[in-house]
Amino acid sequence: MADTAAIAAVLRAAGSVFAEDEARLLVEAAGDADLDRLVRQRAAGTPLEHLLGWVEFDGLRIAVEPGVFVPRRRTELLVREAARRAPPRAVVVELCCGAGAAAAALTARLEGPEVYAVDIDRVAVRCARRNLPGGHVYAGDLDAPLPRRLEHRVDVLVANAPYVPTGELGLMPAEARDHEPRVALDGGADGLDVARRVVAVAPRWLAPAGVVLIETSERQAPALVEAAATAGLRPVAVHDENTGGTAVLASTLRR
Ligand SMILES: C[S@@+](CC[C@H](N)C(=O)[O-])C[C@H]1O[C@@H](n2cnc3c(N)ncnc32)[C@H](O)[C@@H]1O
Repeated sequence: MADTAAIAAVLRAAGSVFAEDEARLLVEAAGDADLDRLVRQRAAGTPLEHLLGWVEFDGLRIAVEPGVFVPRRRTELLVREAARRAPPRAVVVELCCGAGAAAAALTARLEGPEVYAVDIDRVAVRCARRNLPGGHVYAGDLDAPLPRRLEHRVDVLVANAPYVPTGELGLMPAEARDHEPRVALDGGADGLDVARRVVAVAPRWLAPAGVVLIETSERQAPALVEAAATAGLRPVAVHDENTGGTAVLASTLRR
């Protein structure tokens, strides 16, 4: 039987804060044959979730393969706020979907949604297809692959696009810098390059009472609110103290 305490000691020495929990999860995940390799990789800084092959998100197990952005708990704010606003049989779109965690959580929470997701990264698209078996997952730039029949039909459009300012990438934890792709993190000079593109395209896709929800940081939220207003939307910023999540929600203006 694997010595969980000894593995925890190795992980703790390597800097893991939750060494006992991680050791237990690695022992559960590994066949005897590759446990040593998993422990070595974890001690060397590979994200736990890439080794386990899953991450818990909004009560679901989301499949994550090495090389994909690991969904963060703070993104559950987008899911909760989107679910509150979605009508029955909602048309849901997740742009920059990564592993498709938000779309999968909305699929689980909503009644009979029609779900679409897009990402530019092929590993992300492969994971999203695993996590959204009943959804439509496309590879491509932002909204380009969405079918035109969705124009003005989307009830909730969610996006956790890359939003780290380029100059701050070096300040990120090594786990993110070394194991998550730059395209998942780099949001350009002020971090809002992709998020601004999302608000700019949103009016083309949103239904008359639709809403776009974009994760951002508290510092960036005012600039994103301004961009959404410029795009003709009615924006508001929300924050979750528990997870540190921040999002800008913007609805189409009702006439
Ligand atoms: C911060 S990660 C978030 C992934 C996922 N939304 C989540 O919360 O787990 C940003 C994602 O945006 C994707 N991405 C970046 N630029 C993109 C673009 N122009 N078009 C589509 N996807 C893009 C990346 O590949 C990455 O999967």
